[in-house]
This record gives sequence, C-alpha cells and structure tokens, in this order.
Amino acid sequence: MAFLSDTIARIKPSPTVAVTTLAQELKAAGHDVIGLGAGEPDFDTPDHIKAAAIAAINAGKTKYTAPDGMPELKRAICDKFLRENGLTYTPKQVTISGGGKQVLFNALIATLNVGDEVIIPAPYWVSYPDMVLMAGGTPVPVLTSVASRFKMTADQLEAAITPKTKWLIFNSPSNPTGAGYTRDELKALTDVLMRHPHVWVMTDDMYEHLAYDGFEFCTPAQIEPGLYDRTLTVNGVSKAYAMTGWRIGYAGGPEHLITGMRKVQSQSTSNPCTISQWAAVEALNGPQGFLKDNVTLFRRRRDLVVEQLNAIEGVTCPVPEGAFYVYPDISGLIGKTSPGGTLIDTDETFAKALLEETGAAVVFGAAFGLSPNFRISYATSDDLLAEACQRIRKFCAALT
Ligand SMILES: Cc1ncc(COP(=O)(O)O)c(C=O)c1O
Repeated sequence: MAFLSDTIARIKPSPTVAVTTLAQELKAAGHDVIGLGAGEPDFDTPDHIKAAAIAAINAGKTKYTAPDGMPELKRAICDKFLRENGLTYTPKQVTISGGGKQVLFNALIATLNVGDEVIIPAPYWVSYPDMVLMAGGTPVPVLTSVASRFKMTADQLEAAITPKTKWLIFNSPSNPTGAGYTRDELKALTDVLMRHPHVWVMTDDMYEHLAYDGFEFCTPAQIEPGLYDRTLTVNGVSKAYAMTGWRIGYAGGPEHLITGMRKVQSQSTSNPCTISQWAAVEALNGPQGFLKDNVTLFRRRRDLVVEQLNAIEGVTCPVPEGAFYVYPDISGLIGKTSPGGTLIDTDETFAKALLEETGAAVVFGAAFGLSPNFRISYATSDDLLAEACQRIRKFCAALT
C-alpha cells in the first residue's frame, strides 16, 4: 500500500515552480536562459518598508503574535479596505497569514466538505484546483477563451452552479491572463450570485494595484453589498509592494468564517512572521506614491510584449487590463515542427522546444487549464524582455 495519502496522490506540484527551477538549472549549467516564468516583481522591496522591519528587530518585536496576526496590522488592513475598496471590516473580521496562498488554503480547509464544488474560471492560477482537492472539494473549471478576453460570462457562471456549489473563486486582474473585469462585467456575475444564496465568493485581489490605462479595479462586495455576508476578500502585500519573500497575505470576511480560518492556522503554522507583519504595517500605512511608478513601468513592458507577440503569425494576444502577465493563444502554431525537429502538438511541447532551442522559459497553458497558450511574466527588465521576444519571434517564424 502507498505510504503517501490519497489526498497527496490527487494533487500535482506547481508547474510554475517547475519551469522556474528548470530555467535556473539550465542557467547554472551555463546555458543562455531568459526566465519569463516567475510571478514576482523584479525590483526590491522599498527602503521604508525594509527600515520598518529592521526597526522591529532592533526593538525586540520578535516574539509570537496572536495566531491570525497582530492588532496593529489588523487595524492597517481595516483602514486599507475602507480607504481603497469602500469595505468596512472590523479587526475580528480580518485574518493574516503567510502569504495570500495560505489565506486561500485556510479558507478552503475551513469550509469544504467532501463533494463540495468550487467554480474556478479557467485559465486559473495554478494553485486553486489543487488546494480545492487537498481540502476534499471538487474543482469545477469554467473555460473562457481568447474571444471573451479570458473572462467568464454571467451565463457561464449560471450554468456552472449546482446545489453542491460552495464557492466561486474570482481573480481580477488575473494570473495568468492579466484580464480584469470591468464594473459592468463584475456586476453581471454578482447578479447571478444574488440569485443563488448558497454560493459564496472568494475574491483574490492580489493584483489590485497593477491595473493599466485607467482600468478601474473593483471587488465583488463593493459592487454588490448584498454579497458582503458571503464574500471573503483576499489580498496581500506580495505583488504590489514587491514583498513576495516576506509572506504576508490577508483577508476580510464574515466573523464566523474568519474564526474557522484562525482555528486552521492556530493548529498549523500559528502567526505569520512577526517582523514581516511590522513591514506590512508600513507598506499599508506608509507612502503609496511609488505604486503609480510601478504601474507606468509595467504598462510599458506590457505594451512591448503584446506588440511583439501579435506581430507573430499564428499568435493572438489580447491586451490585458492588469497584473504582469500575458497569455497568448498559439492555435495557429499547433501541428508545426520546430527547427530542432520537435512536433509542436501541444503548448507543453511548444514551451519545451522554445526553452531548449532558444533559452526563453515560458509556462505552458495546460498548467493553467486552457490550451493552446503560454504565459509570459513581464516582470523582468526591458532589455531581457526585448531579447526574449526576439527569440520567440524567430523561433515561431522558423516553424514549418
Ligand atoms: C492570483 C494569485 N493569488 C495568490 C498568489 C499568492 O500570493 P502570495 O505570494 O502572497 O502567497 C499569487 C502568487 O503568484 C497569485 O498569482
């Protein structure tokens, strides 16, 4: 009999981590590799945030805190929700974890029973379905397409809801497509949810601050206050404040749900790193001006990548509203053969041949539940991006 549990047998390791690791290994072996897989800003945490962490260490603020976070950070999070999202949460309605990932995991563990269904628009962030499986639930992917700019429609949501549906996981702007739902598009979805009072919404707002061309970020409980009592609003400091390694994510939601999530955390990891919590207080309460500069930088890179990709025959790349990803469709390349002799029959073989023959490391679409596509993270320098796009263009042009 297998020693590892059935639960672990059901899930797969993160493909994005696998691509990043392979790219690092090839680089270490002397290959000329450009990694376009990592989902994190390529610049450093701002100095004022680092200084807050150093001050916390020097002041001896290095002990345990309450399992789901310290009051100072909960206060800063309540203020943030009110200031930026028009949402009123009390500290008892807020939980803080080791990254947005742990927040989502705690919520699913705290709420799912075997057979409960979770609707996940595809393409999706790689961890959602596996987390649902780990928690005993059943992921229900809803396939979108390049034609709908990778957004789920109200009709699709309506059709996916069953009596067993417990959650909709909603992510806008999205990883991996960068797609952002407008106020009207989101309202169409929340109208559907209002007709199904047993369905809750877990909204992953991690890319809130990375939105371009005046795109107005909005979150479900703000658009439809009637959903406030069944919404978990998840966010974190990782992407906006270049703090991926600090591991702080948080959520606001109904108190009974937050209490359940605290129970999970108190019996697993306890409080998120105390020093990181002090850094997050500074991130949320401190100056926010640099966020605009980051948006300007990422927008320039987005435009560069989209333009280059759309110039390739057989590739279609919508202009994303936010995040730092593009998710081109490569239907027009399937069935061709690479210069190195690989038959491109899937997006996985495309990504593998591209890496082996050009050194450009992208993540294949199947990892995110929609093919044939690939994901580029453009959170890398302009020069490297331009070089990577050149290699991709040359590679695609040489396919026969
Ligand atoms: C959509 C989405 N949600 C959550 C996370 C996790 O963020 P954190 O690093 O705070 O755990 C990521 C990170 O890639 C993400 O892309």
